[in-house]
Amino acid sequence: LITDVRLRRVLDSRGNATVEADVLTESGGFGRGKAPSGASTGEYEAIELPASEAIANAREDAIPRLVGEVHAGNQRDVDAALHAADGTDDFSGIGANSAVAISVAAAKAGADVLGAPLFQHLGGTFRGNELPTPLGNVVGGGEHAADATHIQEFLSAPIGAPSVSEAIFANAAVHQEVHDILGERGIAAGKGDEGAWAPSIDDAEAFEIVDEAVESVADDVGFAIQFGLDVAGAELYDEDEDGYVYGDEVRSTEEQIDYIADLVEEYDLVYVEDPLDENDYEAFAELTERVGDQTLVCGDDLFVTNVERLSQGIQQGAGNSILIKPNQIGTLTDTVDAIELAVENGYEPVVSHRSGETEDTTIAHLATATAAPFIKTGAVGGERTAKLNELIRIEDNAV
Ligand code: PGA
Ligand code: ZN
Repeated sequence: LITDVRLRRVLDSRGNATVEADVLTESGGFGRGKAPSGASTGEYEAIELPASEAIANAREDAIPRLVGEVHAGNQRDVDAALHAADGTDDFSGIGANSAVAISVAAAKAGADVLGAPLFQHLGGTFRGNELPTPLGNVVGGGEHAADATHIQEFLSAPIGAPSVSEAIFANAAVHQEVHDILGERGIAAGKGDEGAWAPSIDDAEAFEIVDEAVESVADDVGFAIQFGLDVAGAELYDEDEDGYVYGDEVRSTEEQIDYIADLVEEYDLVYVEDPLDENDYEAFAELTERVGDQTLVCGDDLFVTNVERLSQGIQQGAGNSILIKPNQIGTLTDTVDAIELAVENGYEPVVSHRSGETEDTTIAHLATATAAPFIKTGAVGGERTAKLNELIRIEDNAV
């Protein structure tokens, strides 16, 4: 039984305040969870409140429904109590940031009571044994860096790696190789919010550089490395222009579909996230029809880890992959429900970090527990390597 829930403001990787939750149980279990935060957030995400407000509201409404009432190990009960306390359909009552921090803290307390690693508690004995392939953000811009590429993320995808550990080191090597190539070209670059290089170059040059970097590292390591994109199309789409705005250039929806399909061909892209606007299921379906057997067409802002939005996508054939971010929907139960619906319908789940992160490692366990084929959690930087290093430990049976 949960005996205490403690909430506090802590820092995220951008230096903003976020919610940290501790859950304590009668039998001495302890768990701690933290909420991440997006910058290119989807219109249909659960609502993040200012941390202090989320904490105050959760103290008043959620904690009384948890303490002395619910077992930490019973995740569906914990998350149902959070929904009941919130009373809205988008967590605007207690804040999705309070909800997800408490949901994660309870899961960890439940695992602690069992003396099991979190992935074991979440996935059970009969979970699949595969570990996810990490997608590493190596160049980017969009909402994550000013004066850089229009496409938000260029993602190294070490699809031929024989182990998670080799995949993680390959992504870091691609990140370094990109820096070397930028240096050779005399291009200075800082880093964006997720640690990707954020040079002031056009997208065409970024494609050239990333293509060269993955090929060079693939030669070194001796396994296949390809790459993919998070276009973050909803951020490029402008209703007034009725198109996708790339600086001075505007692409109509049809042109955007052609552009993405051409990129998939030219660069053999294995992954394309949010190539189109979050309201345009039809365009997603058209692109999926064209390139869906060559690449993953992934919905992030389109689906926001929401089973209702995913169901609509399934009906229309929009995408063949879904990004999974627990804080987009607010609880682990809702998150796992979205993953299960995806898998049942042949959509590949990609478990993901946010651009604003903490040292919390839960998504590494969630991806392992659900045998998700991919995880997107950056390539370098402490709040990113926290997850990557946890995956290395999981692979090494050291958690
Ligand atoms: P966000 O970006 O966390 O800023 O929303 C990540 C993504 O779009 O995948
Ligand atoms: Zn995205």
